[in-house]
Amino acid sequence: MTAVVPEPVVPEPVEGPVEAPAVEPFDAVDVIRTKRDGGAVPDDALRWMIDAYTREYVADSQMAAFAMAVLLNGMTRDEIRVMTDAMIASGERMSFAGLGKRTVDKHSTGGVGDKITLPLAPLVASFGVAVPQLSGRGLGHTGGTLDKLESIPGWRAALSNDEMTAQLRGVGAVICAAGSGLAPADKRLYALRDVTGTVEAIPLIASSIMSKKIAEGTDALVLDVKFGSGAFMQDVEKARELARTMVALGTDSGVATTALLTDMNTPLGLAIGNANEVRESIEVLAGGGPADVVELTVALAREMLALAGLPDADVEAALRDGRAMDAWREMIRAQDGDPDAALPTPRETHVVTASAAGVVTRLEALPFGIAAWRLGAGRARAQDPVVHAAGIDLHVKPGDAVTAGQPLFTLLADDENRFARALDAVEGAWEIGAVAPSPSPLVLERITA
Ligand code: URA
Repeated sequence: MTAVVPEPVVPEPVEGPVEAPAVEPFDAVDVIRTKRDGGAVPDDALRWMIDAYTREYVADSQMAAFAMAVLLNGMTRDEIRVMTDAMIASGERMSFAGLGKRTVDKHSTGGVGDKITLPLAPLVASFGVAVPQLSGRGLGHTGGTLDKLESIPGWRAALSNDEMTAQLRGVGAVICAAGSGLAPADKRLYALRDVTGTVEAIPLIASSIMSKKIAEGTDALVLDVKFGSGAFMQDVEKARELARTMVALGTDSGVATTALLTDMNTPLGLAIGNANEVRESIEVLAGGGPADVVELTVALAREMLALAGLPDADVEAALRDGRAMDAWREMIRAQDGDPDAALPTPRETHVVTASAAGVVTRLEALPFGIAAWRLGAGRARAQDPVVHAAGIDLHVKPGDAVTAGQPLFTLLADDENRFARALDAVEGAWEIGAVAPSPSPLVLERITA
């Protein structure tokens, strides 16, 4: 038997000059080694690393090693600034320069029951300031502002840049989806950090958040950096370091930036979910609402208005006299929502009552956030839909006296089969005792450049 020898493949002759592969000015492995050994990466090498990663020349495996080196060894203020700049340069940069109004944005690091953007944006806009609030959808136990607003029949999250500018010029407040053109390097890097245990690195969080905010083109920015059980940063020291890093980054980039360090050990307000959080926001805009939601809305509005040159604005008056509510109604209508339409209500409810009389000493944010998520208010995967009527209505907060049998909270869902896992999540997450807890401040500290 004779072996069959394959014919050699002769390449076809190529017409014209052959393009040599571009010569890259750095090696990813050198950048990784520098950071691994605790050094500072030179500016041009760091810019190249981010650019080459966006071009998919630097591999995910190399960027993962670099992110881990950053998590372990940190970055200098200069490196964080260069990294942020490089991420901004990876995409489009918006500008509201022709608007004729000052623009001020707010960013929260996320928490349970955090619906503050909803009353805050129209409240600040009612003073003639433009609020371009590019928001996201929720993933995991912290809800997304767009998911909440999509409870309103007809409301539309996607706006073109022209629509956004027109709305800022007219109504003043816009809450809409961030386009994919802003800081695409961050989009890739954030997804990679999520699966490589490198989300928690402060330089990476700070550059991720601030690259998007600076690229958005706002004149000023107020950061709500949360600490505690329901926050991204549970430890107050870490939250403070993150806040200082982001304030420095904003300031260095010419965006007037301040931060409030706020407590997220207990859910904010009484509503955790989507439609119920919209209802609670409307109560605040009508001059009522839970004290903590009002306090934080007012504190952040004062910060934003001070940065916009209105330090003496009477924020409470705009909530009392309906100006903020008028701006809300206009903002919702401008995005095709019906501010008078009924909001979705749940098909099933389950009430949990107090087993004994006493005072609520503890009600932890994280387990309640997880329970609301399991009820359908949040999503496990980016492509999942949310159930707008799902969530939790709290009837009490720490410090409230209760009698035996009094309702503590109500679970809301479209399917009663969801209740068991939600109840598992909140097992041991609240406590009724004899002595009221000593009050702790909601706004712990103000951080400026
Ligand atoms: N939010 C972001 O946008 N980026 C992070 O790294 C963390 C939270």
